[in-house]
Amino acid sequence: MRMVDLIARKRDRGELTKEEINWMIGEYVAERIPDYQMSALLMAIYFNGMTNTEMAAFADAMLHSGAVLDLSAIDGVKIDKHSTGGIGDKISLILAPVMGALGVSVPMISGRGLGFTGGTLDKLEAIPGFNVEMTTDNFIKQVKEHHIAIIAANKEVAPADCKLYALRDVTATVESIPLIASSIMSKKISSGINALVLDVKTGSGAFMQKEEDARALAKALVAIGSAHGVKTRALITDMSQPLGVTIGNSLEVAETIAVLNNRGPKDVHDLTVILASHMLVMAGKTDSIEAAASLASDVLRDGRAKRAFKQLIADQGGDASVVDQPQKLPRAKYRIHVKAEAGGYVTAINAKELGLVSMQLGGGRKQAGDALDHSVGLVLHKKVGTPVTSGDTLATIHSNTKQIDALVRDARNAFAIGAEAPEKKPLIIDVLEPDK
Ligand code: URA
Repeated sequence: MRMVDLIARKRDRGELTKEEINWMIGEYVAERIPDYQMSALLMAIYFNGMTNTEMAAFADAMLHSGAVLDLSAIDGVKIDKHSTGGIGDKISLILAPVMGALGVSVPMISGRGLGFTGGTLDKLEAIPGFNVEMTTDNFIKQVKEHHIAIIAANKEVAPADCKLYALRDVTATVESIPLIASSIMSKKISSGINALVLDVKTGSGAFMQKEEDARALAKALVAIGSAHGVKTRALITDMSQPLGVTIGNSLEVAETIAVLNNRGPKDVHDLTVILASHMLVMAGKTDSIEAAASLASDVLRDGRAKRAFKQLIADQGGDASVVDQPQKLPRAKYRIHVKAEAGGYVTAINAKELGLVSMQLGGGRKQAGDALDHSVGLVLHKKVGTPVTSGDTLATIHSNTKQIDALVRDARNAFAIGAEAPEKKPLIIDVLEPDK
């Protein structure tokens, strides 16, 4: 087989066979297919899509590019959650400790920033010393002892996603249903879990900006999970504005700590509790979503989730004292205010634009392997529906460069201001299960 022929076939809207897909993924992981050829194939898939049969084969080949972990040494249901990516989405950092505090095992294989969105691993690495690389034995040991561990895909587990994820990030090939579905499901299934809750985002800060596309992605994710015997449920959730009030790695860790101290934004708290509730029911902890929600709210309120977060940080080599002293997190040199030029109500916030501002400050990668500046980002002072007077501060940019006029202008333009407050959007748009 020749990679150039497979690229040409996808370019011309043809279909790849299972054998060709297996060969291609195997050769790519073995470094016998170069990134430039794989980039061309990814772009052809981006434009021309894949059939359901191709997508299933792609996900399967990526899943079997490495080991599928055997978690039988850990008692009970092993469950995880994954988001399709959004702006200000720090939910995993709070949700994993909530589940850990309730004794539910969450072996989490997460991602880094992708496209214009941030990533759980980059956020955790804003905590001094936090290590997301771990041997499989240590990963299993940590989950067995303390219920939660959060690591990166690696050479052993989901190596194909490890390479393709980094390549898609810098080749503008992220927003593709087959590529997102196979990326997420290959790494999640290879972690050896029994059940999975997916947070499929839709809106201006999501890869699937239209609800119908988010629904198609959710269906694809649930179908792949079910085909591999993983109980999978997808929640379609609102990403029409950033989640919470912070964007940027260190700032989002600080907001995580605020939520764990019951001082965080309501949307972040509520989405965490809703996702935790579905996970608790699927893990068999309780029968009803309402009872599960009260269990999750309790551990947030009484500090047990905060203790579990400290334990997670300590287990992974990080400085857990940041939880009591968030001022120890990396801080940018300058605070630059973005002021409103008109009065009224915030009618919309283009979350993607704010994500791009954060990336350009140094919070995201322009090329594979770029080092990040964890200290930079934005704090929002106004969210959709808030009244604004001309001259009010809409957001504060945390930057290590003083002259960022173009970014200030981009951030200001991300806020739409109108005469009337818009209707409030629900946080949860739908819940999809295999039989729906
Ligand atoms: N999360 C992933 O792991 N992969 C994607 O492609 C998008 C979100």
